[in-house]
Amino acid sequence: MLMPRSWPPPPALSPDLSQQPLAGLPGATLEVAAAVDGVAERAAGLLLQALEAGGPVGLATGRTMQPVYAALRRQVAQWSESRCQRLLSRWCSFNLDEYVGLGAADRGSFAAEMAAALAVPLGLAPGCLQLPDGLAADPDVEARRYGAAVATAGGIALQLLGLGSNGHVGFNEPPCPRHAPSRCLELSPATRHQNAAAFGADPAAVPERAITLGTAEILAAREVLLVVTGGAKAEILRRSLQESPEPGVPASWLQTHPCLRVLVDADAASALRLS
Ligand code: GLP
Repeated sequence: MLMPRSWPPPPALSPDLSQQPLAGLPGATLEVAAAVDGVAERAAGLLLQALEAGGPVGLATGRTMQPVYAALRRQVAQWSESRCQRLLSRWCSFNLDEYVGLGAADRGSFAAEMAAALAVPLGLAPGCLQLPDGLAADPDVEARRYGAAVATAGGIALQLLGLGSNGHVGFNEPPCPRHAPSRCLELSPATRHQNAAAFGADPAAVPERAITLGTAEILAAREVLLVVTGGAKAEILRRSLQESPEPGVPASWLQTHPCLRVLVDADAASALRLS
């Protein structure tokens, strides 16, 4: 079957990246870098290409993305002034998620994380880099507004995703159906534990609820870029990509996406079966 491929074609692979066949998932592209640096440079290049084309690009937070955004800043710093200005004037992005009850002034919010990683260092105008409003009076209404804003922008062109240790994408916690909409939900104990580092290492300090784009919006993106690093996620990555899709592993629904690129370091790839 012919699969839609990205256009314009992605930047050429650098020598430290190899493209590998993924057993059972011939439509997906698997790219493996020896180390995190190679993953970050590649992801940043793909994001910048989509942002220069006008997006909208779906952005993610978390430790996996910190080197990606550092690489993005480094790449832009090499650009001419006019190319930078064009990027800033075209920038349109929607982050996946935000904690309920936190705003940009709160340490631990994704708004603060994105301001520090991209908006402030790049000098993005307010409104270019969008997130759900964690301080909205009614988080359910805000989740619907945010999903509608993505649809009004034409849907996501390239969706960047990390992988939760319990298989979540965005904050789509298990169990999660294939087409869950943008919504407000309860975070699992596992996720609050995973994300405690940003809250003084105290899982109880992690907000109990979050707003997230749904698997519906994620799967509607024209391309998906799943970035996973580190051996601790090797097994959940294997389950996500090489076991039957099921609500217990929300990321497994990505197998049904026609244009999925999986970008990993060798440690994260270590449990995958290659064909
Ligand atoms: C968080 C975020 C996800 C992120 C994932 C992985 O909870 N909501 O969007 O991709 O978990 O985080 P990390 O990269 O820190 O492991």
